[in-house]
Amino acid sequence: MILITGGAGYIGAHVALELMQQGDDVLILDNLCNSYRSTLDRIAALSGRRPGFIQGDVRNRGLLDTVFADYPIDAVVHCAGLKAVGESVREPLRYYDTNVGGTVTLCQAMAHAGVFNLLFSSSATVYGDCATMPIDETCATGQPTNPYGQSKLMAENVMQSMVCSDERWSVGLLRYFNPIGAHKSGLLGEAPTSTPNNLLPYLLQVASGQRAALSVFGRDYDTPDGTGVRDYIHVVDLAEGHVKALDALRTQRGVQIWNLGTGLGYSVLEVVRAFEKVSGVQVPLVFEGRRAGDIARCWANPEKALNELGWSARRSLDRMLADAWRWECHLHQEEATTLVS
Ligand code: NAD
Ligand code: UFG
Repeated sequence: MILITGGAGYIGAHVALELMQQGDDVLILDNLCNSYRSTLDRIAALSGRRPGFIQGDVRNRGLLDTVFADYPIDAVVHCAGLKAVGESVREPLRYYDTNVGGTVTLCQAMAHAGVFNLLFSSSATVYGDCATMPIDETCATGQPTNPYGQSKLMAENVMQSMVCSDERWSVGLLRYFNPIGAHKSGLLGEAPTSTPNNLLPYLLQVASGQRAALSVFGRDYDTPDGTGVRDYIHVVDLAEGHVKALDALRTQRGVQIWNLGTGLGYSVLEVVRAFEKVSGVQVPLVFEGRRAGDIARCWANPEKALNELGWSARRSLDRMLADAWRWECHLHQEEATTLVS
């Protein structure tokens, strides 16, 4: 059985679905601080099975000890965490407590229970403002410009030290680039509980009429059209990467680091134009100054994951945007139905 912390969230839910579709038993632990219980129904509808669920906090050692005692868990995917960059600047202690403290508590409980296979949701943000593109795993980790990024790097360092001290561990640090998109059914996707910070969820809310315009942060970067360039990856490709990485963990020891990206960079304006083409909906734009802490360019060299895991991202930007739009329309329709009934 695989324990997914934060499994009711955007990425964790897609990982849960992918694992269940290939026959694994999944237990989700989530405190639902940024997700909804209804996500479990969505996973059940798509997989034909219901994942186990415990509503609880990853920082609660007593609860974790009970969970490991009660279930035959042999690996953990640790997605639980806080991820809003701006909020992390305002509330750094909360971010360090959850993202670093939560990881320490989880690792302690795992070691106590004799479970040593762990996949961690890390981020390309740990590379900081890298001078050369694409970024491979040998690039030095940089100086993340906000507490969120710092907390991810600190959590990575905690696990690196832990593995050096105890050779039973097998830890995979998955450095995600920019996950977007949704399940192709349109029944599972990102459901922000507050104003979105990231490009795609904000753009979707503008396109569906919930917000007036998309702010484009900075048009004077050293990029072809002056807007920020990122490596957008379909969330289902990302989830498939977790499945491959979990398989690899079972036959290895130590720490492995894998970039999960496509190797392609798209600017903000390229994403907007591609979305307009795919959806047929115009997105009003407002050009604003650069967002504090943003970098100009960031895309992956994904070769290590290909060579070591046999994994590569297969879904195009158009596909990511079409799937995300289908999900947004579905959510909208669901909300309208709930209001009517
Ligand atoms: P999300 O907010 O949708 O999911 C995180 C889940 O963790 C939520 O369901 C939330 O309720 C839960 N959670 C938070 N704190 C918890 C706690 N103390 N105990 C138990 N559950 C808790 O975010 P996501 O986009 O699915 O991201 C998952 C992970 O991937 C996070 O760790 C995030 O930092 C990392 N990551 C995300 C991105 C991205 O762009 N989405 C990029 C890089 C890394
Ligand atoms: N952007 C806008 N308008 C918006 C939101 C974003 O123009 O309303 C721009 C940003 O300036 C940037 C690009 O769109 O150029 C992507 O921004 P996101 O906020 O979507 O993503 P980031 O690259 O800033 O960060 C994301 C996650 C981090 C993760 C990182 C990994 O938020 O958690 O990807 O690359 F670490």
